[in-house]
Amino acid sequence: MKTIVEINQKTCIGCGLCSKVCSKKILKMNHKKVEVVDYPDWSCCQCGLCMAVCPTQSIQVNGLNYNEFVALPENKLDYKILEKMLSSRRSIRSFRDSNVEREVLNKVIRASAMSPIGALPANVQLIVMDRKKELDELYKDTVRCWKKMMQSMKNPIYKIISKRVAGANQYHALTHHALPSARICCKSADKGKNIFTFNAPAIMFFHGKKISVCITENCWLAASYATIAAHSLGLGSIFSGMIPPIVNMNKDVKRKLGIPDENNIYSCLMMGYPAVEFKRKIPRKHKNVMYLK
Ligand SMILES: Cc1cc2nc3c(=O)[nH]c(=O)nc-3n(C[C@H](O)[C@H](O)[C@H](O)COP(=O)(O)O)c2cc1C
Ligand code: SF4
Ligand code: SF4
Repeated sequence: MKTIVEINQKTCIGCGLCSKVCSKKILKMNHKKVEVVDYPDWSCCQCGLCMAVCPTQSIQVNGLNYNEFVALPENKLDYKILEKMLSSRRSIRSFRDSNVEREVLNKVIRASAMSPIGALPANVQLIVMDRKKELDELYKDTVRCWKKMMQSMKNPIYKIISKRVAGANQYHALTHHALPSARICCKSADKGKNIFTFNAPAIMFFHGKKISVCITENCWLAASYATIAAHSLGLGSIFSGMIPPIVNMNKDVKRKLGIPDENNIYSCLMMGYPAVEFKRKIPRKHKNVMYLK
């Protein structure tokens, strides 16, 4: 259905800001008056940029409501505070045995939805697991499926097929990183130590349709905002590289989580109140930074 964009010409002051921010070129200035051009049905993606910038609230995009556009504070975020917050975040692998309140989880979710999105409308979906029964079951499924996978990989024909299906890069990641890690995690599981989910009391799965544009990037951006938000709320969190492939490859596990077959999990963030506190920040740098002359 086509999104209707309307201008209230009585209140519009002709500043032209809306036409500057609309990436779809739907709003055009004509002699200090803004016009809505004839645009294709799919064109307006309801990004809301025009409504967010208009000083006189003169634009109405169907489906969006000014009541939900909260005024932004004048003062911008202080870089020193931001750097202090980011540098004090660490991945947490030991959690207190207490639940995370849903109102706190909801704040993490709200912040994660504020990340940049490649190709609107939003296509990231979230599943939140915060009940012991489901968390325990996921852990058992993860151990069971990785053990099965390690067994299968002993079969040379299975190896050849996996390489064909996964492609050279993914196969290398599987054999050189995921499988060796899974071996360690499964050995720990046999000794009663959970280093797959670290007994985190809450797990967020960021998923979406496999065919959706930018879905991998969008899930990762949302998840990285979530990890920062979690930290700001006193939670510790850690990504799992071991759970998504298991869920994506096993339809029964996927269905238990309520994830449709046509979707994949792209990022998985485990969180809870941390049982450890770090005393020092770790120096972190990119491998290489170079300004081109
Ligand atoms: C894609 C991805 C997958 C990860 N998977 C795991 C994992 O399965 N197990 C784990 O202990 N840590 C995992 N991590 C956490 C990293 O090991 C962690 O970010 C790294 O140790 C850096 O530590 P820091 O977050 O404290 O800076 C993962 C991180 C990313 C980005
Ligand atoms: S909602 Fe976005 S795409 Fe639609 S008119 Fe406004 S700025 Fe343009
Ligand atoms: S931003 Fe608002 S006031 Fe400015 S030209 Fe567009 S509709 Fe008119």
